[in-house]
Order: sequence, then structure tokens, then C-alpha cells
Amino acid sequence: MQKSHSAKGLIVITGAGQRVGLHCAAALQRQGYQLVVSYRKMTSGITQLQQAGVHCIAADFTRLDSMAAFIAALAPYPSIRALIHNASSWQPDLPEQQADSSLSTVNQLQQDAAVFDEMQHIHARAPYLLNRALLPKLLASGDGADIIHLTDFVASVGSSKHQAYAASKAALENLTLSLARQLAPEIKVNAIAPALLMFNEGDDDAYRQKALAKSLMAVAPGPAEVLQSILYLLQSEYVTGRVLALDGGRHLKLP
Ligand SMILES: NC(=O)c1ccc[n+]([C@@H]2O[C@H](COP(=O)([O-])OP(=O)(O)OC[C@H]3O[C@@H](n4cnc5c(N)ncnc54)[C@H](OP(=O)(O)O)[C@@H]3O)[C@@H](O)[C@H]2O)c1
Repeated sequence: MQKSHSAKGLIVITGAGQRVGLHCAAALQRQGYQLVVSYRKMTSGITQLQQAGVHCIAADFTRLDSMAAFIAALAPYPSIRALIHNASSWQPDLPEQQADSSLSTVNQLQQDAAVFDEMQHIHARAPYLLNRALLPKLLASGDGADIIHLTDFVASVGSSKHQAYAASKAALENLTLSLARQLAPEIKVNAIAPALLMFNEGDDDAYRQKALAKSLMAVAPGPAEVLQSILYLLQSEYVTGRVLALDGGRHLKLP
């Protein structure tokens, strides 16, 4: 495994097996950065990245032993130019419990708690722990470093069906503020908050039309918008503690 640094430094991206993470990892590597990524299940995208020389490490960030193994696999790298927290699970809340539910109250609580805890673990706890564990390597970058959190438009407006998800992304935005205060000027810490970027395979036409109509721009722009935002943050010498909204003007699409 190649551990020497490219001229532009090492970028670590979590959850790069598909879609946004995969697109950004491949593009940043083509631009001359050295890439290390995490993935949970093996995908054709991970095979492509491996063939291109990207160090791909299996990790489930809900498990501390798996996170520790991921951190250990990064030990040979002396410094990190940017740490990008992309790993995510868009899990809906469970349906409301019926009054005549056969589940005991404690079982109902356990089921709801499992969703809430998993969202917090992936979106808030894992970035919190990884940022702390990898801080010495970020500080060793020399020419400045970046932490970038992928959050979501719903962190600022809430969500009726993804409440636990939205709350966990809001926690991550708050961590962005705290870390930016702690780590300036050596490390810039920012969040990128997309609304709709891309659809999932099973999304039908009615859903797509409804989702597109929520923003002023009425498009699903794809992962390139995130890549452009990452490149902007990497080259900035001044932007920190900010949430970059990629929402097509959705905040102005008022009834
Ligand atoms: N796509 C959009 O329209 C959109 C909109 C708003 C915000 N965002 C945000 O933008 C980012 C990228 O979005 P995306 O649509 O590309 O996400 P995605 O397709 O859901 O991919 C996220 C990746 O995270 C990995 N992951 C999930 N749980 C994990 C865990 N416990 N440990 C380690 N890895 C885990 C997944 O691996 P597995 O597949 O193996 O589980 C997956 O490859 C996310 O942070 C998302 O919240 C996206």
C-alpha cells in the first residue's frame, strides 16, 4: 500500500461505496489528491477505486471496534489534509404505535430508541470520535487542514418522517460550530447541507416530480455540486464554521 503523500495531500472520505462519496473520491484522486475511503458493503464502485489505487477500508461506524480498526489502518499515514464525513443512512422513523399494539411499552421504546441511536451514531457520534482520534494527523498537515461534514437541508427545518435523521444531522451541524471554534486557525471546519441531490433507484415519477417542485431550481443536480463545494472549501483560507447550503433556493419556496 502506498503511504507516501501526493503533492496535494491525503483526503479521507467515509462511506464512499456509492453515489456522492464515490463520485467525490474518484474525482479528487484524478485531481492529484491521495485518497483513503471507508465502505461498509463491497460495491462495484469500491472495486473501481481499488483498481485506481485508492486505499479502501471496510468499516461500520456504529461499532466502536470497527471504528478503531479504521483508525488503526490510517496509522501509517503521517498527516491528513482533509477529513470528509459523508457516511450516512437515511432511515425513516418507525410508524406511530397503535393504541392496541401487542408490543409492551418497553419494546416500543426499544424500537424507537434503536432508530434514534443509530442515526446519532452514524451522523454525530462517528464524526465526533473520528475527528478527535485523527486530530493529530490533521494538525500535522502543515499547510492547513479541513474537516467537512455532510449534513442535510432538514437539519435546519426538520422533517416529519425522518425526525431522528434530521436531529442527528442538526447535531453534526452544531459540532461543526464547536470544532471550528476549537481548531482555528490550523483547521477549518465546515458543513455542506444538500437538499435533493439525486434520487434513489426505486423513486417513482410522482415522487420525483413532488421532490423537484420543492426547490426554486427544480433540478436534482447530482454529486458534482458537492464536489464543487469541497473544492471551494479546500482552497479557501477564510471560510470556517459555516454551513454551505446546496438547496436550489428551497428555503425561499414558500407557500
Ligand atoms: N443524495 C441526496 O439527495 C442527499 C440529500 C441531502 C443530504 N445528503 C447527504 O449527502 C451525503 C451523501 O449522500 P448519498 O445519497 O451519496 O448517501 P448514500 O448513498 O446513502 O451513501 C452513504 C454511504 O454511507 C455508508 N454508511 C451507511 N451507514 C454506515 C455505517 N454505519 N458505517 C459506515 N458507513 C455507513 C453507506 O454504506 P452501505 O451502503 O454499505 O450501508 C453508503 O455507502 C450523506 O451524508 C447524505 O446524508 C444527500
